[in-house]
Amino acid sequence: MKIISVVGARPNFMKVAPLSIAFSKYPQIEHKIVHTGQHYDYSMNKLFFEQLGIPDPDVHLNVGSGSHAKQTAEIMSKFEDVLIQESPDYLLVVGDVNSTVACSLVASKMHIKVIHVEAGLRSNDRRMPEELNRIVTDHLSDMLFVSEESGLINLEREGISKDKVHFVGNVMIDSLIRNLEKVKMNEVMNLNGLTSNSFGLVTLHRPSNVDTKESLENLVYLLKNISKQYKLVFPMHPRTKNNLNRFGVLESILSEPNIQILEPQGYFEFLKLMKECLFVLTDSGGIQEETTYLNVPCITIRDNTERPITCTLGTNTLVPFKEIDSIEAIIESKLTKKAAKVEVPYWDGNTAKRITEIIVANY
Ligand code: UD1
Repeated sequence: MKIISVVGARPNFMKVAPLSIAFSKYPQIEHKIVHTGQHYDYSMNKLFFEQLGIPDPDVHLNVGSGSHAKQTAEIMSKFEDVLIQESPDYLLVVGDVNSTVACSLVASKMHIKVIHVEAGLRSNDRRMPEELNRIVTDHLSDMLFVSEESGLINLEREGISKDKVHFVGNVMIDSLIRNLEKVKMNEVMNLNGLTSNSFGLVTLHRPSNVDTKESLENLVYLLKNISKQYKLVFPMHPRTKNNLNRFGVLESILSEPNIQILEPQGYFEFLKLMKECLFVLTDSGGIQEETTYLNVPCITIRDNTERPITCTLGTNTLVPFKEIDSIEAIIESKLTKKAAKVEVPYWDGNTAKRITEIIVANY
């Protein structure tokens, strides 16, 4: 059985890593990894391979950045050649980035079965590029592996046959659990002069938050206010940095004494920062899940989430952009009444194993 997995952008690497390990236990599975090159900087890409112990990709497409259409089209065109040459039984894609949808479309038109890991999530907000990627990928897929119960409900509502859908849990949490021990020794705190429980961790990169001058200015104003009370540590995504620079607001945040801007961090470094911080302020998808598992208070600056379990069972609170003035009060209340950790069904470190068993049984 030949499976090709696709990775392209930072959040894909920790999702494919546990699958790669689980596949390696089955001699009948030949597994190859194709890297589209959507993310290409060392800190957004290669460092993750080194830390996660994923084998080097078998094929690099080197597409790089571009508009959505250009990036997606270039991945499709190059990936078609790979599928012609490799002729796999299955294409496996994870998450919701442009690489996910591009490769799914190519494979399904070539009658190669598509497996989607992290299927069924919906923000119900079609202005998000990821939402379009999720919908299209799910409707093209032959096997859909769901990470939380909302995914089952969404897929049923969209008329996807139950026979294709499997509720297995969260591969990103597999990676987290597997690496927690290694994270203990990580030096990121010492290297940056940080002490435990003394700072808030910030990550912001969603187009809706960082692509206009007005929203960036509002965010910088917010961060400056919060930093009067809490030190903030902000590993900055290149998209955010480029835009702050373009709109002339980068200097004003760099010169702020209680806001520490860092380069994008490696996987271990970021997990360590998440474990040691007081709270997280983010607009990421995966970080909502990781903070829920780690029982770290999380505030997500978005109007909606495709991961509602992180709000109902987890530590996450959504704050729409237009209500960001309320964030300081929310931080206070989350820090004063920290809830006990709740187990999320199947977020137990064994999701990749369950997925592999189902693929093998269905072959
Ligand atoms: C992509 C995903 C998003 C995910 C995020 C994680 C899509 C539609 N979006 O967004 O869901 O949360 O990755 O990081 O697939 N850049 C660099 N170096 C890199 C990569 C990007 O400098 O290695 C800069 C470029 O200026 C690029 C910009 O970041 O234009 C945006 O990159 P892109 O891959 O288009 O989207 P992300 O914002 O990273």
